[in-house]
Amino acid sequence: MQNKRQNICIAIDGYAGTGKSSLGKLLATDLNFCFLSTGSLYRAMAYKCLTNGVDVHDKQQILDALKDTTVDIVFKDDTPYVVLNGQLIKEELLHTKEIDALTPFVAKHQEIREKALFVQQDLVKTKNIVLEGRDIGTVVAPDAEIKLFFTASPEVRAERRLQQHKESGENVGYEEVLQNIIMRDFEDANRKISPLKPAEDAVMIDTSHTTLQDTSKKIYGLVFNKMQQILNSNSDIEVSENLITLNSEKQM
Ligand code: C5P
Repeated sequence: MQNKRQNICIAIDGYAGTGKSSLGKLLATDLNFCFLSTGSLYRAMAYKCLTNGVDVHDKQQILDALKDTTVDIVFKDDTPYVVLNGQLIKEELLHTKEIDALTPFVAKHQEIREKALFVQQDLVKTKNIVLEGRDIGTVVAPDAEIKLFFTASPEVRAERRLQQHKESGENVGYEEVLQNIIMRDFEDANRKISPLKPAEDAVMIDTSHTTLQDTSKKIYGLVFNKMQQILNSNSDIEVSENLITLNSEKQM
């Protein structure tokens, strides 16, 4: 018999730069859930490859570099940190344009995905959590209570990413960011293992022409309806009444 889950998982998948992380963080804060951008696990492994001079187009080199590497997530005051071989990796090291570009080539291999899968599924078992990524609703947490899939045009996403790069002081142009986004979409959506695609029961959210506030209103409506259902059902999952009424004014 399958073990029933005791926790709630909200799965947010979709393309880079669609606002998944901003929305996921907001939602997690309001629900008092943990939040993890699961890309950080793959980014950390790509970082190790980069610092070890690995050619990321050579699978064997990647596997050799990461063979004995452990990857984990620790939460400190609800903020997640990636830990590689017991060493905490600073977030800013993982969000450079080099790491953006290298990560899909590391993340496409089964052996690498298994390391990340183990960590993510352990979190799903033990925490109320909003997980953001590419394969959460399809592979990591196929029984997530809520599944969202974010899309937006590549041009809009490139503008958003450009802004983020500028804010972190990185010198990069629009065209470079756009090409990087198109390349990443292609690599993530066309890999053999756990490709980026919506789960059959995912709710599609197009953020091309909406603000974070508009998107959040729509999603809050959805999330709180679902929470109400969980509370009303015979589910083993305990949802506090608080959660249902909390921020109900944020709904559409
Ligand atoms: O979401 P983020 O931009 O941090 O993801 C970086 C990369 O990590 C993605 O382009 C993708 O190659 C990989 N990734 C993945 N599966 C996830 C999350 C991220 O393959 N669940």
